[in-house]
Amino acid sequence: MEKLLLQNTDLTVSRLCAGCMGLGGGWEKGIPLTKEHEKQANEFLEAALEQGINFFDNANIYAYGKAEEVFGRVVKAHPSLREKIVIQSKCGIRWVDDPPGSPQRFDFSYENIMASVEGSLRRLHTDYLDILLLHRPDVLWDGQEIARAFAELKKAGKVHYFGVSNQNRFQMEYLQSFLPDPLVANQLQMSLLHNGFAEVGISFNQNSPTYPDGWEGVLEYCRLKGVGLQAWRSLDQGILSGGDTSQAPENVQKTAALVKQYAKARSVPADAVVLAWLLMHPARIIPVTGTTRPERLAADAKSLEVTLSRNEWYRLFATARGSEMP
Ligand SMILES: NC(=O)c1ccc[n+]([C@@H]2O[C@H](COP(=O)([O-])OP(=O)(O)OC[C@H]3O[C@@H](n4cnc5c(N)ncnc54)[C@H](OP(=O)(O)O)[C@@H]3O)[C@@H](O)[C@H]2O)c1
Repeated sequence: MEKLLLQNTDLTVSRLCAGCMGLGGGWEKGIPLTKEHEKQANEFLEAALEQGINFFDNANIYAYGKAEEVFGRVVKAHPSLREKIVIQSKCGIRWVDDPPGSPQRFDFSYENIMASVEGSLRRLHTDYLDILLLHRPDVLWDGQEIARAFAELKKAGKVHYFGVSNQNRFQMEYLQSFLPDPLVANQLQMSLLHNGFAEVGISFNQNSPTYPDGWEGVLEYCRLKGVGLQAWRSLDQGILSGGDTSQAPENVQKTAALVKQYAKARSVPADAVVLAWLLMHPARIIPVTGTTRPERLAADAKSLEVTLSRNEWYRLFATARGSEMP
């Protein structure tokens, strides 16, 4: 699989990043890890590596820590693996009742960042995270506090690079003003159906009801500053590539049909066309995939073999947004 050197880092990563949110048994509380979860994590990592994927996205909260824990068990069982892969994790979301009596909230305090990273390192059986992302903006954030946490984590060798997720252009720029090192990533929801990143470029100055507030300058800022763009929910959870569209809006049904047509013409799985649409963007967006199934990872990897013409790219976009270009 094609690799790229992430700007402002020494990290060479695959064009696809394998998301780990589906590992460790899901969101039901109080379910311990089983041998079945370990088998799933083993097969997932094996399949990803086989496809040339070396980039893995985790978070302290996924499956309440069990996604990191089960991933870490594989790392522990295969010590030579760690240096071959790039591990990204996140912090900053705190669930209700953590600790008991607390509401759901965001927390970029020095204490929470430090404690979250310690927890991630322990669960992942590693001494360092390649990249740490701040998961979702904390309204009460303090740039100096974040900078202090990042500086200490970097000095201790516990985190090599830092980035953000779900932040707009001004949040990134403001945070960056406190930091000596460049932010290296912003992970955002981007896909054929969640297409504000593309819509913002065409609907400006049109009095358009579809103008997506908040997306102004996000891609441009990232491209100017070398902040790597990553797309979560890149496959729209499979709705365009085999999911049940019978109750879906017309634009979704039509997009799924077009995806199928383009996939059939190339003898590739539909997932490959969905991801190719993101991969074709010149900002070199890295799609983060969500499946844990080896066969779907193989289908996703086929996206690197798909080239869409400019006409096909715009036809998919127009169909997904439900109207032609303005
Ligand atoms: N930064 C953030 O705020 C944020 C938020 C959400 C997620 N993420 C990251 O992004 C990753 C991907 O997100 P996601 O899981 O929402 O992405 P996704 O790849 O769009 O969706 C994955 C889900 O869709 C199903 N699926 C995939 N292809 C399918 C198909 N062809 N037919 C039917 N179902 C299909 C998968 O089921 P199977 O597992 O059965 O294949 C899985 O449940 C996560 O793992 C996580 O690392 C980040």
